Amino acid sequence: MDEPPPSTTEAAGFPPETVGSAGVGDSFYPLLGNGGYDVIHYEIELDVDPVANTLEATTALSALATHDLSSFNLDLSGLDVEAVAVNGEPAAYTRDGSEMTVRSPVLIPEGEPFSVTVSYSGTPEQIDDPGVPFMTMGWKWVDGVIFTVNQPSAAMSWFPGNNHPTDKATFMFRITVPAGTTAAATGVLVEEVTDDGSTTATWQMDDPMATYLAAVYIGDFERRETLLADGLLIRDYVPSDFDPTLTSALSIAPDAIRYFETIFGPYPFEAYGTLVLPFETGYALENQTLSVHGSDTLDPYIIAHEVMHQWIGNSVTIADWSDIWMNEGFAFYIPFMFLAESQGLDLDEVMAGWYETLLDTKAAPPKGIGIDQLFDFYAVYGRGALTLHALRVEVGDPTFLDILRTHYERAAGAATDTGSFLRIVDELAGRDAVELTRSWLFDTDIPEVPAALEASATE
Ligand code: ARG
Ligand code: ZN
Repeated sequence: MDEPPPSTTEAAGFPPETVGSAGVGDSFYPLLGNGGYDVIHYEIELDVDPVANTLEATTALSALATHDLSSFNLDLSGLDVEAVAVNGEPAAYTRDGSEMTVRSPVLIPEGEPFSVTVSYSGTPEQIDDPGVPFMTMGWKWVDGVIFTVNQPSAAMSWFPGNNHPTDKATFMFRITVPAGTTAAATGVLVEEVTDDGSTTATWQMDDPMATYLAAVYIGDFERRETLLADGLLIRDYVPSDFDPTLTSALSIAPDAIRYFETIFGPYPFEAYGTLVLPFETGYALENQTLSVHGSDTLDPYIIAHEVMHQWIGNSVTIADWSDIWMNEGFAFYIPFMFLAESQGLDLDEVMAGWYETLLDTKAAPPKGIGIDQLFDFYAVYGRGALTLHALRVEVGDPTFLDILRTHYERAAGAATDTGSFLRIVDELAGRDAVELTRSWLFDTDIPEVPAALEASATE
């Protein structure tokens, strides 16, 4: 993954301006995403055999050419491709690792819409992502239960696309499973039809979504639905034999939504829910509108963390994976504010404890991490959270809340980066606040303890 993108130009024999590049220039993942086009919409149709763990699939993308294209790349890993069509015409393609190069039958002019349809089948293969060395990623099968864990690179294990958060799109998922099995996905369930022993569920995501947040879940799940007072749909999916004492944990999500709304503004999507797997996972993931949790990751703090990501991470997305602290630092810190408000948690004490932990572990600066530290609990989550806490102590609550809201509002539905955040800090709080934030994010040494923590830290 650390080789520079190969020159598809030479490989395909076209002049450079007509060929879409094999990556979008991510500093950690040079081959993720593709240049030359923007995806507008994905239609992913999966006919799944959950016993054999095989699928027959078609993914259709509607895209817009951002320059003239005679060929372009899609990211797809494993699986057998049967056919590719561009604007309905059969197209030639080659595959090299996770890069698929499609040669368009006719030149696609800059600015023009076009469609690509890929038919494929097989058993999806797990991806060894260098950012997640502790597990394999992608389409997962455990005893007949299927779920997807894409972040950051593994969407390409089950559908072809422009696999980078800078290219968000709307989605439709149409999933066919044996009747009696539940199929859920990120978005809103718009149709469910049972016919001839099969059920086809159609799920629609009408808000822009990064490919890493797309998810499909198949298994013996029960849907639990509530409509909140303002009409927001909460639909949780729990194993049919779910221990009812665990259900109470899920009810924290609406409270967390209400609290985060006071900070950032209205919940960004049409629905929210928690999908609980019938086994332990050791992690949870903020898949857009339907987070996935294991039976061991259902505590209120983790649920609130994945809810927080719906604003920060999912609506406001990072434009480069090296900015991961902007997802995890926020989603680590702000749920503590929620628990301080709702359950009397002593935030200063928690942050003082974390400050000691950062010293003990010599936590790297969030903007000084290598790819293998993408989900480093100390450098990214802990030091990311203390960055925000130190900023808050420096500028005071009203300015801090103003910074948070501005950060969200400026990039809602789109992507942002550390530089844009620092510009907001500069505008609303001035140079000293920028310098402090920079030292937390970039300096090897851990900055001095934020003033308000001194008392708690020395207790
Ligand atoms: N963003 C996830 C969280 O909310 C990170 C889970 C780590 N695992 C992964 N495969 N990305 O903490
Ligand atoms: Zn997270």
